[in-house]
Amino acid sequence: MFITFICVALFMALFHATATVAQSPPKAVFAHVMGGNYDSNEWLEDIQLAKDAHIDAFALNFAANSPELIPSLTAAYNAANQLGNFSLFISFDYSGNGPWAGQTVVNTINQFKDEPSQYLVDGKPFVSTFEGPNNAADWGWIKSQVPIYFVPCWTSVGPEFIADNSNTDGGFSWNAWPTGANDMNTEGDSAWMSALGSKPYMMPVSPWFFTDLPSYDKNWLWRGDDLWYDRWQQVLEMDPPMVEIISWNDVGESHNIGPIRQSGVPTDGSWYIDDMPHDDWRRTLPYWIDAYKSGNTTQPTVANDTMSYWYRLTPVEACSDSQGTTGGDTAYEASVNPDNVVQDKIFLDALVTAAADVSVQVGSNSPTSLRALHAGVNHFSVPFNGQTGNVTFTISRNGATVVSGTGPAISTDCPQGGKTNFNAYVGGC
Ligand SMILES: *[C@@H]1O[C@H](CO)[C@@H](O)[C@H](O)[C@H]1NC(C)=O
Ligand SMILES: *[C@@H]1O[C@H](CO)[C@@H](O)[C@H](O)[C@H]1NC(C)=O
Ligand SMILES: *[C@@H]1O[C@H](CO)[C@@H](O)[C@H](O)[C@H]1NC(C)=O
Ligand SMILES: *[C@@H]1O[C@H](CO)[C@@H](O)[C@H](O)[C@H]1NC(C)=O
Repeated sequence: MFITFICVALFMALFHATATVAQSPPKAVFAHVMGGNYDSNEWLEDIQLAKDAHIDAFALNFAANSPELIPSLTAAYNAANQLGNFSLFISFDYSGNGPWAGQTVVNTINQFKDEPSQYLVDGKPFVSTFEGPNNAADWGWIKSQVPIYFVPCWTSVGPEFIADNSNTDGGFSWNAWPTGANDMNTEGDSAWMSALGSKPYMMPVSPWFFTDLPSYDKNWLWRGDDLWYDRWQQVLEMDPPMVEIISWNDVGESHNIGPIRQSGVPTDGSWYIDDMPHDDWRRTLPYWIDAYKSGNTTQPTVANDTMSYWYRLTPVEACSDSQGTTGGDTAYEASVNPDNVVQDKIFLDALVTAAADVSVQVGSNSPTSLRALHAGVNHFSVPFNGQTGNVTFTISRNGATVVSGTGPAISTDCPQGGKTNFNAYVGGC
């Protein structure tokens, strides 16, 4: 009788736990990775950097018929297994090279689903996509062959389609950037969360967007500017079930927060990618991710005073617009003059142990003095105001410099044969 009671209680507890998990997977932060020709060392380095940033898993994006699919997945899973405490899942890209064959999807999932580093929800491999709504019906058969937890990114057809499709477990939106000359807001996220109902929403977070690749017929920008700071505030406010950073390494769209790997640099994009590192965007990431996952959104305790800063190296007026870059993707929205989309400003996040003075000096112009009012992350922007020269950043307290660093010059000399580089230089100290 007593034993029976315990068994029932245990069964109920297990059942309850399972049911709870099914409704909401554990909070997690992923980063979108363009799966390419990384070797084992590059995977080891990138996974370690992502772990250091408190990212939980990489979403490994592969287009259909990629010759590097199996070798690259093998190297990535081996690296993650070796490092431990980091997960991977596959994101099937239906846009890059057309639809995937259902059997290939099943085979690929099966080949890696038992790896120790496979990201699981409810004990099932987590699977995502980039687009592919025309093949939505394939997933009934795919799920009959291999149980998965399926969170597609069918953004082009909207969240209702994902909510109504019985094969989906959640939905991922690709709408991480504001349209026109506007800052990002959470209206889209609210609409997705409401349309998805009980299915968990994976919220996109991105720092920037600029692409100019004739080989891919892509040439537009969206506003980055304050986005990396604003968007993480929006994550804390919306508190979504999951977050995916767009991206870890898509350097061709200038939204990478991971290292630039030459194998991922398109030849016709090297002029705006090389020498424009983004790594220091990761400085704030452990704090944002910990706050999001713990739900403790009070200002973080920062161990050392530090700073990340980012800016374009020329004002918008410096170069002609002959390259034809549009503000917004004209396949989906009206074009806005790109010179109005981005702002000629220097952006910075000061992570301080206590209130501090912050200064930003362009060339030999008089410095702009700012006040970091509280311990934690203090975000600022400083207009170019026609100033040129190297940019020096300083955190000081009681008149004594605590840290300082210098970023490359803002210049009105138009580089790259008249083309405007709308990418950001990101540095830190
Ligand atoms: C994984 O994380 C746990 C908890 O933080 C830690 O105890 C363990 O040593 C880590 N394992 C590896 C392989 O890093
Ligand atoms: C919340 O985070 C702050 C800053 O790190 C910390 O001081 C505080 O103890 C945390 N509160 C809880 C309830 O964990
Ligand atoms: C803070 O700075 C000290 C001295 O440079 C260093 O030893 C320590 O590792 C730093 N702590 C962190 C969390 O970066
Ligand atoms: C910026 O600093 C570098 C390195 O100190 C120096 O070589 C360069 O002349 C400076 N550029 C300007 C515009 O002052």
